[in-house]
Amino acid sequence: MKPSSKLLIACLALLTASLSPLYGTSGSLSVKNLKAEYRINPTGLETPSPRLSWELVSNQQDCRQLAYQIRSSSDKNGLADARRVLWNSGMVESQKSVHVLYEGPSPKSGDRVWWQVRVRDNQGNESEWSEAAFFEMGLLKPDDWRALWIEEINAAASDTALPAPMFRKEFRVRDRVASARLYITAHGLYHAELDGQVVTSDLFNPGWTSYRKRLQYQVYDLTDRLTPGTHALGVMLGEGWYLGSFGWTNNRNFFGDKMGLLAQLVIEYENGRREYVVTDPSWKASFGPVIKSDIYNGELYDARLEKQGWSQAGFDDRLWKPVKTASYPKEILVSQEGPPVRRIEELVPVQIFTAPNGDTLVDMGQNMVGRIRLRVSGEAGTRVTLRHAEVLDQQGNLYTANLRTAKQQVEYILKGSETEVYEPLFTFQGFRYVSVSGYPGKLTPESLTGIVIHSDMEPAGSFECSEPMLNQLQRNIVWGLKGNFLDVPTDCPQRDERMGWTGDAQVFAPTACFNMDAATFYTKWLRDVSADQHENGAVPHVIPDVIGGGAATGWADAAVIVPWILYQTYGDTRILEEQYESMKAWVQYMQKQAGERHLWTTGNHFGDWLAFASTRSDYTGATTDKDFLATAYFAHSAGLLSKTAKVLGKEEDAREFSELRERVKQAFQQEFMTPNGRLSPNTQTAYVVALTFGLLPESLESAAAKRLADDVNHFGHITTGFLGAADINPTLSAYGYWDEAYKLLLRTAYPSWLYPITKGATTIWERWDGIKPDGSFQDVGMNSFNHYAYGAVGNWMYRNIAGIQHDPEHPGYSHFFIRPRPGGGVDWARATHKTMYGEIRSSWILENSTLKMEVTVPANTSATIFIPKEGSFEIRKVGSGSYTFIGTM
Ligand code: BGC
Repeated sequence: MKPSSKLLIACLALLTASLSPLYGTSGSLSVKNLKAEYRINPTGLETPSPRLSWELVSNQQDCRQLAYQIRSSSDKNGLADARRVLWNSGMVESQKSVHVLYEGPSPKSGDRVWWQVRVRDNQGNESEWSEAAFFEMGLLKPDDWRALWIEEINAAASDTALPAPMFRKEFRVRDRVASARLYITAHGLYHAELDGQVVTSDLFNPGWTSYRKRLQYQVYDLTDRLTPGTHALGVMLGEGWYLGSFGWTNNRNFFGDKMGLLAQLVIEYENGRREYVVTDPSWKASFGPVIKSDIYNGELYDARLEKQGWSQAGFDDRLWKPVKTASYPKEILVSQEGPPVRRIEELVPVQIFTAPNGDTLVDMGQNMVGRIRLRVSGEAGTRVTLRHAEVLDQQGNLYTANLRTAKQQVEYILKGSETEVYEPLFTFQGFRYVSVSGYPGKLTPESLTGIVIHSDMEPAGSFECSEPMLNQLQRNIVWGLKGNFLDVPTDCPQRDERMGWTGDAQVFAPTACFNMDAATFYTKWLRDVSADQHENGAVPHVIPDVIGGGAATGWADAAVIVPWILYQTYGDTRILEEQYESMKAWVQYMQKQAGERHLWTTGNHFGDWLAFASTRSDYTGATTDKDFLATAYFAHSAGLLSKTAKVLGKEEDAREFSELRERVKQAFQQEFMTPNGRLSPNTQTAYVVALTFGLLPESLESAAAKRLADDVNHFGHITTGFLGAADINPTLSAYGYWDEAYKLLLRTAYPSWLYPITKGATTIWERWDGIKPDGSFQDVGMNSFNHYAYGAVGNWMYRNIAGIQHDPEHPGYSHFFIRPRPGGGVDWARATHKTMYGEIRSSWILENSTLKMEVTVPANTSATIFIPKEGSFEIRKVGSGSYTFIGTM
């Protein structure tokens, strides 16, 4: 036999083996990234039936899961031992690998459940059991809390910033520890140490929620740190969002007027005994180096007042005072829901220079959010002052006017030791430039480090193309995201605002979800949306609500739109269930306002916020009538609510709200549309909103789209504000106006997305012209240089330049589309997006008129690929794997 025939036979044998119905464990199929409730090995879950997800890894094409088996045990080593298995699902024939309900016996407070999974695929492979993963429950009942709230003995309401109280407690560990968990929260922010070392690197704990209704606690595993002997816990508190000055009017004491601590350390010894160390009257309190600390204003830290060893055993606390206990409801305690806030990266100064006014300025090279870590040595009592700002003024001096009343000032008083390293504890700044005064000795790049801080979400996407300015835009979008995802989706991170503005959140959420895994971040925030929603269904302007008011069109609709985006992105139906009542209440609120006419013409709205304005006497700008917007959003939210009801099997509601949408749509057409499809108001935003929400008769859609395109061509630029900007490019391209869409995106003159980049922007600006073409600034009253709302165009870049599009019929990317559309002279692009199933990749390069596409489809998903073929498309349906396609333009 010739060697080649031998090879053929071997190959045939292999092929038959892989087609055989008998499954064999195969190296080619495995399972990774086990998650419970979106997280790897989470502690502190509170749902009795967490949803489990995993990713399939296969080197074969078109790999689909046919069946899975899960087993769980209270002990990692018990998984393989049938007697110790708590739950064995058996082989379940299902393609589901995402959000599979844990159906074992309901775990109790503090229980840890280990689990693993194995799967079979459609190629005859069976994976090995995966690595073991776990989830651990939090404290499920208020009674599980033995700890008492403690406060500093003289704590009282104050209208000025207060020093940070410190609390401490020594305790003995009597035996070998099997497990130890610290459950901890605070009124204010806490910084906790055990034996002189931080308990966690998580920051801004317990996070920001609507504190009167929901207060998060965190769970930390201290098992390895508790050896037999004496130990000490020390906790320092800052005012934070709880009682520091906050909101438009800089009110203090919004949620409460005293800082307080609630902590419970549960120690389980190897001999089975359990012991508790809890906050109670046995703790002691004092004050230390943090003289004042405030989210907007910064921190004053006097290192001479540090108490060396305060969180260690043996510290002399005879002069410390007793604490008082206080009683607050424990029903509102919930375990941490979103990702923790952490130090994510460090920036090194790019330049140190003297400003024209003599200030020493440091340029971090990037508009960032976080704070400066200072290294300094000098005499005790020397005071170093850091002032933070986003930009320099026209003369080149630090520009702070746009911060309004937020001081963003950090002061450090040296204790006079060798080298002192200080980073503020309870504040953050939004800045690129730092003015440094009082620094002893020579300031070098090593003296200051920029600590970038935000919610620690897993990066979920990347986008790059041949046009450098679009790459800078993508970077600015991501930096805008980082800076405004510090536990709550905020409008801006620097001036005296930094609040969870609903409208901004709503327009940016799709882009955020492309770039980061934002599932739990938004889930947490949506729970506050429900918590703060008014009885009558009105949704406040900001969540958590610290300013009052609400029910603004396009803003309050976040209550309906954001859950729907999470469902589309992550295939999450539980978020729809959880939010359903809130979504419905908001739509019913609008229904009530609109009454029988189905036109919503009352209330106070922001409208198409910050739309293009002009000083021309014959054209004052692109103002879109608020009645128009309110009625359009009413129809849109009613439609999404109807779809949500359908997903949840609430057929009657689905019908009711789809009929409601129809009626609003009719009323909308009668009121705002001429028989030929001209809209009043005749703005870009009006056409964008009407077309995106499907409010026009189908027969008039293309005429309306043409009017939009004509308007874009007439002005040569975008004229929308926040609401229109998110959807203008998707609308143009959906109706074939690719050239117009690319033109808007690539324009560099004001107003445009790239204009700020020509002015050196490293984040997205609040306004199209934060810095005007002549170099002067926009109105100081509202001119943030780090506002993500206009970054919503990022969604279009991923979906249309790179072509990664979810399939609304198969939420969560179980099936998706790859549909890139080169244009605007961009000749290559590549993007990735990490889904619950694994990473999608799409890249293309255009040479002459040949388009080479490369696509990766994760295991257990499939995709429909649109390959451009001279003005049309060739459509290919593929299973998982990596592919190359050739198209022509
Ligand atoms: C915020 C916005 C917000 C707006 C309301 C501003 O002060 O910064 O981003 O949405 O108020 O229109």
